[in-house]
Amino acid sequence: MEKEVFLDDKAFLVSETDKNGIISFANDEFCKYAGYTIEELINEPHNIVRHADMPRAAFKDLWGTVKKGNIWRGFVKNKVKDGGYYWVYATVYPFTSCNGSRGYISCRKKASKNEVEEYTKLYKQMKLKEN
Ligand SMILES: Cc1cc2nc3c(=O)[nH]c(=O)nc-3n(C[C@H](O)[C@H](O)[C@H](O)COP(=O)(O)O)c2cc1C
Repeated sequence: MEKEVFLDDKAFLVSETDKNGIISFANDEFCKYAGYTIEELINEPHNIVRHADMPRAAFKDLWGTVKKGNIWRGFVKNKVKDGGYYWVYATVYPFTSCNGSRGYISCRKKASKNEVEEYTKLYKQMKLKEN
């Protein structure tokens, strides 16, 4: 059985990517829960923390939404480098910086026990339909 890691109530995990989903920033809390140093995350694709239980459709929805310039909100199960996982409620924002480059920022907080139960079931059903 994989170990679930629970976020602190006030934890706030932030990461930023370029327009292709390559990580350009992560805050200390993101690094801590993911189990990576900042050096290990920078310039890596954000799927480095992808958990196999996440359905493809969730990320299709995320990317479809932010590429249109809209904000995506949703529940994500992420894997920890050395084993285990943690759930978050994520808000992903598209941005254009003053030099014109585009990117995305994700801000994550703890998902409640009920939300985790609900999305565990939903994502399990979505995964079954994938195969
Ligand atoms: C700002 C931003 C943050 C993201 N954060 C996560 C994340 O925490 N976990 C995750 O699995 N995917 C995250 N993604 C989505 C990944 O880029 C990727 O689409 C996903 O992991 C699925 O991987 P795949 O496309 O290789 O199947 C994020 C994308 C963006 C733009």
